[in-house]
Amino acid sequence: MTKRVFSGIQPSGHIHIGNYIGAIRNWLGNLESRDNIFCVVDQHAITVDYDPDALRQGTRDAVALYIACGLDPEKCRLFVQSHIPEHTELAWLLTCVTPMGWLERMTQFKDKAGAKRERIGTGLFTYPTLMAADILLYQTHEVPVGDDQKQHVELTRDIAERFNRKFGEVFVIPEPVIPVVGARIMGFDDPTAKMSKSAPGHHHSVGLLDDPAKARKTIMRAVTDSQQGIVFDPARAGLFNLLSIYQVLTGQGREQIEAHFAGKGYGDLKKEVAEVVIAEIEPIQQRYRELIADSTYIDAVLARSVEKLRPVADATMDAVRRAMGHR
Ligand code: AMP
Ligand code: TRP
Repeated sequence: MTKRVFSGIQPSGHIHIGNYIGAIRNWLGNLESRDNIFCVVDQHAITVDYDPDALRQGTRDAVALYIACGLDPEKCRLFVQSHIPEHTELAWLLTCVTPMGWLERMTQFKDKAGAKRERIGTGLFTYPTLMAADILLYQTHEVPVGDDQKQHVELTRDIAERFNRKFGEVFVIPEPVIPVVGARIMGFDDPTAKMSKSAPGHHHSVGLLDDPAKARKTIMRAVTDSQQGIVFDPARAGLFNLLSIYQVLTGQGREQIEAHFAGKGYGDLKKEVAEVVIAEIEPIQQRYRELIADSTYIDAVLARSVEKLRPVADATMDAVRRAMGHR
C-alpha cells in the first residue's frame, strides 16, 4: 500500500528558507513514492491577531509559492484548509477527547502565549487539536515537519490512540518525519533563536521571495563568533547554521565541505552560502511570478484537490460520527 503523507504550512508572513529546508524540500523528495497531501492552514493562521485581506492574499500567494517550489499539482493534492469544513468539525470532536494537561505541555503554546495568556483567543490553546484533525482526517501515515512541530505530531498520535481505545479503531496512527540536517534553521541575526516568520529583525531570515541583493546582505551580516576554522561544531551556533544550510543545499558531505573551506574565513563561507541560497531561490521566484499572474490556474488546482480529497474526508467522518454516537 502506498503510504499517505500530510503536511501543512501557515500562510501568514513570508515563507523563509527555514520552512523550505525544514519542511518543503523534504516533501519534494517523496512526490513519486507517496500519496501526498499538502495544506495551506488558513484556519491556524487566525489564532493570533491578523488582517482578513492579508490572509486572503497570503493564502493564494502560498499556494503559488508551493507550486513554484516544485510541488507539482499533478503529483500531490495541494489545498486550503478552510475549503474542507470537516477539519473544524473533527477538531471539535478531538478537543473533547484531549485532556487539558496534554495541551498545557505544548511548548509552542507557552512560547506564543507568553505574558498574554489571559487575553489571547482560546484557539491558540486548542491549535494542536486542529492540527491533529488535519492529519487524522486523511488517515495519514507520515507527517514531514521541522523539529518545532514534532511535539504536535506526537500529541496527534496520543489523541488518535486514545480515540481508538475508547471508540474503536478509526484512525491510522501517524509518524513524524524530521530531517536529519536542517530540522531547525536558526535566525541569521541570532543563531540561538529558531528562524521564524514573526521575528522582528530586518536581517533575521531570508524569505523565498526576498530580493537576492537583500538575501546576500542578510547572509553576509550573519552573526558568527570570533573563533577560527570552518568546521561543523554545534557549539558554534552561527557557523553551524551557515554550514548546515550549505550542506543541505549543495548535498555535499561534512568532510568535503570542511576540506573545501580549510584555510578560508567566515567572509568566504558567507559569500558561498549566499550564492547557493540565491541559486536556489531565483528559479522559484521566476516560476512564482508566472503562476501568480494566472489566478484561474490556482483556482482550478485548488478546486480539483478538494474534489479528490472529499471522498477520503467523507469516509473518515462517517466512521467518526458512527463511532461517537452521532449516527
Ligand atoms: P510554519 O512557519 O510554522 O507554518 O512552519 C511550516 C513548516 O516549516 C513546519 O513543518 C515547521 O516545522 C517548519 N519550520 C518552521 N521554522 C523552521 C526552522 N526555523 N527550521 C526548520 N524548519 C522550520
Ligand atoms: N502547526 C504547523 C506549523 O505551524 C502547521 C500545520 C498545521 C501542520 N496542520 C498541520 C503541519 C498538519 C503538519 C501537519 O508549522
